[in-house]
Amino acid sequence: MPRQTFMNRREFMRNSSLSAAGAVALTNGSKVLWASEPGTASMAPSDTLRVGVIGIGARVQQDAYSFSITPGVTLVAVADVYQDRLTRAKELFGEHLDTTNDYRRILDRKDVDAVLIGTPDHWHKRLIIEAMDAGKDVYCEKPMTYKIDEGFEIIDAEKRTGKILQIGSQWVNSPLTDLAQKWINEGRCGDISLVKAWENRNTPSGAWFYPIAPDGNEQTIDWKQWLGSAPDVPFDARRYFRWRCYWDYSGGLQTDLVVHHLNTLHYLMHETAPRSSITYGGSYRWKKVHPEAEVPDVVQTLFEYPNFTYNVSLTLNSSTQGFGAFFMGTKGTIQISETELAFFPDQPLDDYGWVVAAWPSKMQDDFCKQNNIVGINSPWTPGTCTAPESVEHYNVLGDPTDLHVRAFVECVRTRTKSKESAVEGHNAALGAHIANMSYRNGSRKITWDGQKATVA
Ligand SMILES: NC(=O)c1ccc[n+]([C@@H]2O[C@H](COP(=O)([O-])OP(=O)(O)OC[C@H]3O[C@@H](n4cnc5c(N)ncnc54)[C@H](O)[C@@H]3O)[C@@H](O)[C@H]2O)c1
Repeated sequence: MPRQTFMNRREFMRNSSLSAAGAVALTNGSKVLWASEPGTASMAPSDTLRVGVIGIGARVQQDAYSFSITPGVTLVAVADVYQDRLTRAKELFGEHLDTTNDYRRILDRKDVDAVLIGTPDHWHKRLIIEAMDAGKDVYCEKPMTYKIDEGFEIIDAEKRTGKILQIGSQWVNSPLTDLAQKWINEGRCGDISLVKAWENRNTPSGAWFYPIAPDGNEQTIDWKQWLGSAPDVPFDARRYFRWRCYWDYSGGLQTDLVVHHLNTLHYLMHETAPRSSITYGGSYRWKKVHPEAEVPDVVQTLFEYPNFTYNVSLTLNSSTQGFGAFFMGTKGTIQISETELAFFPDQPLDDYGWVVAAWPSKMQDDFCKQNNIVGINSPWTPGTCTAPESVEHYNVLGDPTDLHVRAFVECVRTRTKSKESAVEGHNAALGAHIANMSYRNGSRKITWDGQKATVA
């Protein structure tokens, strides 16, 4: 994620009704519903929020764009350890940008109010805490942590400094997520005891085998600074450009993609963290082409929550079904995808005809009389029925990153906790980490004790 390209989003902004005020149209047939309008009215031009960026790779160029189109926000400085990223940042956002390969120069600037962090995961904790200690509010890309314990340090730092922190799982600010939550809160699905999510890709880029830039070498990249606290290994362009394939910097599918699903699940189901997890999977395809890659290309994970089971299925070897989730309840199922929300009503018909029809005739007649049943009509009728004509479809265009960024800016201005602050970021990443612990320990069940904060 996200799936829309940067240029597409630019085009989209120019050509669509998505206005600079941050409103998104949800359409249901001819009806247009307006949702998720993070307010911008309170922003006076004099209140300009000055933002610095640390790590401006592929994703954060998109985030920075979202900041740049948010009213009352100015990008002032960018740090990156790869020279070409700084060149690209100036091409995209203007020559006025102050660029540096040392992130501390951004934290030292008194005129930077907030920082946007988009380094690989193994740097997140250190940068979030250093930035908050330097007095900055922070928007950091997901996953919040590289390992579980880091979450507690970030939660402490957030409390200690009183700074606003928002993690970059943008789907909590999608109008579709808001509508799904409304339906769940209203009890429209009945009791939800199973949630199934999936995300399937079938391209080298989907499996993070990104092209290696022709000039990506030790002269253009400060390798030591990129490694940070990760194990010291000689420069390797594959590690730099395809870092999600290596455990030293990433948790692969779980921390790259499942973390988004977990975050949305927690938001929709008002849950904190899973109690346990089991993951099966393997490296079936990409390992043959790229033997150096360490993370699996298929993961099938079960998460245990107090009132439901969460079943997440991901493959990098087929794109069938793409991306989505079912929230399955006794009265109906919500299907949520990136651009569409559907409700499938469920009518439990207590039809035992096929069993009763196997009884002797007199017994059938007596049973029907006693239970006011007018005849046993069919020896075989389905027990439930889904009425396709009453499925409701809501569509929304595009990835909600712009909305997520605007929500952050609003939190900063109003000094309000984000929907996705340290606790939420920690809990989503925690689920991804215990799922990986299971996978890396022969699919053993890993339990999380939230009271004692221990893993077993
Ligand atoms: N929210 C989403 O949908 C979404 C999508 C993609 C990626 N992401 C997240 O965004 C983050 C970045 O992913 P990416 O694909 O852009 O990676 P990337 O490798 O393209 O970019 C990371 C950048 O950080 C820079 N960097 C590394 N260490 C640094 C340091 N110490 N100081 C300054 N710069 C440093 C690198 O040089 C690089 O330019 C990851 O955490 C990833 O999980 C989120």
